[in-house]
Amino acid sequence: MSQTTRAFPSDFVWGAATAAYQVEGAAAEDGRGESIWDRFSATPGKVVDGATGAVACDTYHRNAEDIGLMRSLGIGAFRLSVAWPRILPEGRGRVNQAGLDFYDRLVDDLLANGLDPYVTLYHWDLPQVLEDRGGWPARETVEAFTEYTEVVVSRLGDRVRHWITQNEPWVASWLGYGLGVHAPGRKSDSDALAAGHHILVAHGRAAEVLRREAPASEVGIAIDLVPMYPFSDNEADVEAAHREDGFRNRWFLEPVLGRGYPEDMLERYDEILPTIEDGDMDTIAAPLDFLGINYYTRSVVRASVGEVPAEGAEHTEMGWEVYPDGLYRLLVHLQTVYEPPELYITENGAAFADARENGRVADSRRVSYLEGHLDAVVAAIAEGVPVRGYFLWSLLDNFEWAFGYSRRFGIVYVDFDTLERVPKDSFTWYRDFIATQRAGPT
Ligand code: FCB
Repeated sequence: MSQTTRAFPSDFVWGAATAAYQVEGAAAEDGRGESIWDRFSATPGKVVDGATGAVACDTYHRNAEDIGLMRSLGIGAFRLSVAWPRILPEGRGRVNQAGLDFYDRLVDDLLANGLDPYVTLYHWDLPQVLEDRGGWPARETVEAFTEYTEVVVSRLGDRVRHWITQNEPWVASWLGYGLGVHAPGRKSDSDALAAGHHILVAHGRAAEVLRREAPASEVGIAIDLVPMYPFSDNEADVEAAHREDGFRNRWFLEPVLGRGYPEDMLERYDEILPTIEDGDMDTIAAPLDFLGINYYTRSVVRASVGEVPAEGAEHTEMGWEVYPDGLYRLLVHLQTVYEPPELYITENGAAFADARENGRVADSRRVSYLEGHLDAVVAAIAEGVPVRGYFLWSLLDNFEWAFGYSRRFGIVYVDFDTLERVPKDSFTWYRDFIATQRAGPT
């Protein structure tokens, strides 16, 4: 069924997402400390073209312009993250008032323009000093994150209703500490597992702080889920896909939803498990108001080979298969198996090789990607899955981590020489789509 024949609920939240290090720039301004991404991106060979987030989209100075864009887009919510090193340049202890002031003003400006802020506390920019003391594999970072959460909530908690504690624990732990392709670039499976565990404990601790300090808060976490499809019905392929699902998805999803770490994976990781202290699993299972899902693609898994490309399928510039049905099935699966209270799509979008021609960016492939995925969401809602909102990744082309500026996910094109913004065709499409949904059935 196409989107024209189905409608989203009238109170559905339409949004767009960004993250501090990817857009803000102003890396050395107003007392901001160094983050692991500053250090990593300045290390030769780590990021495509040696790019860094030192300037990025310069939203630090251009928020007014970007809020104007969001107003004309017609969204009602904006997902942003707070940069920990702006708030606590030494990771713990001394609070940098100028950093808090920046987010304080931003929240006010968003609200004054009818944009509800959805604030992520950790989107990968750990203060470098904490990494120097052991980073996420060290238990101390949990304490530090809890203190940081207290500081941010005490300033913004009277106005920010929706909080996302952590973004993509799998990526932060495995790409950062296991595979070394993200900051801080370590390569140790046991460090990745310890980092992942502490990120989850930190999530639970932050949830407690938020509920105590700002009882009206709605608390969630954004988990990256990549549904695993067996290459064939052969038992070996089915088993391989299940194992991969354990590594990538179940390991993070199940403890957060109160089921503990999956048994099959505990056995597999037996030799390299981190210390799990008494009470940790209860902390991780802190009640959630919503579960955030970041969905981009699926994987096809073949025994003894691993991930294999899906033949004949369309792929984005990231090499990710375009597979909207995976989102529909994932949402129905989550509802059937786990019954989360509410769901948000906290990220969904695509990178394509966009070009500006005669002042226009004709990104029809992104439009069809979005159409397909929104159709998957509305189909899941029609089946009773409680999806409350959708955040498109991303408002702006930005610093795409290890890919630097070589991958464009925005619905607004950014000229990284002049920092000029040019809304793409997908921006117009999303604007019209939202307006049609708001107008209701005709
Ligand atoms: C997700 C990240 C986000 C962005 C998209 C493309 O893994 O959360 O910051 O880079 O991928």
